[in-house]
Amino acid sequence: MTKSWKEFRFTFPPQHEEHVTALLHDEATLGSYVESQSEQALTVRAYFEISRELSSLRDRFLAAVPQLVLEEGVAVDQNWVRKWRAGLRAVPIGKRFLVVPAGVRPPKATRRWVLRLNAGMAFGTGSHQTTRLCLQALEKFYRPGARLLDVGTGSGILAIAAARLWGQRRPSRAPILGIDQDPVAVEVARRNVRLNRVAPWVRIRQGALSETAGSFDCVVANLTAPELRSNADALDRVVKRSGRIILSGILEEEEEELLRGWSGRGWKLTGAAREGGWVALVYLT
Ligand SMILES: C[S@@+](CC[C@H](N)C(=O)[O-])C[C@H]1O[C@@H](n2cnc3c(N)ncnc32)[C@H](O)[C@@H]1O
Repeated sequence: MTKSWKEFRFTFPPQHEEHVTALLHDEATLGSYVESQSEQALTVRAYFEISRELSSLRDRFLAAVPQLVLEEGVAVDQNWVRKWRAGLRAVPIGKRFLVVPAGVRPPKATRRWVLRLNAGMAFGTGSHQTTRLCLQALEKFYRPGARLLDVGTGSGILAIAAARLWGQRRPSRAPILGIDQDPVAVEVARRNVRLNRVAPWVRIRQGALSETAGSFDCVVANLTAPELRSNADALDRVVKRSGRIILSGILEEEEEELLRGWSGRGWKLTGAAREGGWVALVYLT
């Protein structure tokens, strides 16, 4: 016999996301994800045992968030939920980070820095090699106190990770800037900044690298080889002298040509890390 699960849809003002997520866990959700979002409303789909009645959830959620709208959705079969949940798990990355999808409860005790992420439509769940290579480079090269530009922030994962490396140290103004030309990514990244409570460290702005001003100690850019190539002058412009550039999104077969193209720039290659056919390059300017 195929077992089914019950789906409910929760729509509420975005500032209540953390509260609703905590309640979903308390009510033993089998998993949840953000279906859509705008400045006014966030819609989350959450799954429960098939026996769960809407009335058993309504009172508690409405008492916490009176503006919340709760709807019952379809019943979905077990195989689908099992597959979907299997992809949702906490993933350790490098020596210091633990990426925890928003639908998964973070472990109570961990020595790692937890990055809570709801990537939605944006790139940056931590599952891609290019992101992981950047996270490993950040834990090696990024130090609290340094100003960081995250070019193409996507879900905000790299900017949030850099903020975690500050530990309890609070800056007088946000030292980390995440930019993305895609407005959807900007929305998602801002939401993840709130979810991780790193607003004192991180600002997210919509825009392309070519129109970004500033002078940063460290620049991380997980783009594509052609984008990195065409943005080399812009990267040079935003990084300080003796600053660090971490470049990712490069396939191994694209590496040589990029290295050649950048050889006359006066950047010093200080590291290259590889995973699954991808390479990240680290330069000192
Ligand atoms: C591969 S994703 C990286 C996401 C995240 N930083 C990570 O490492 O997982 C690249 C992102 O860069 C953005 N992007 C591409 N070119 C850009 C540019 N020139 N300026 C700003 N953002 C750019 C895209 O919209 C996309 O969200």
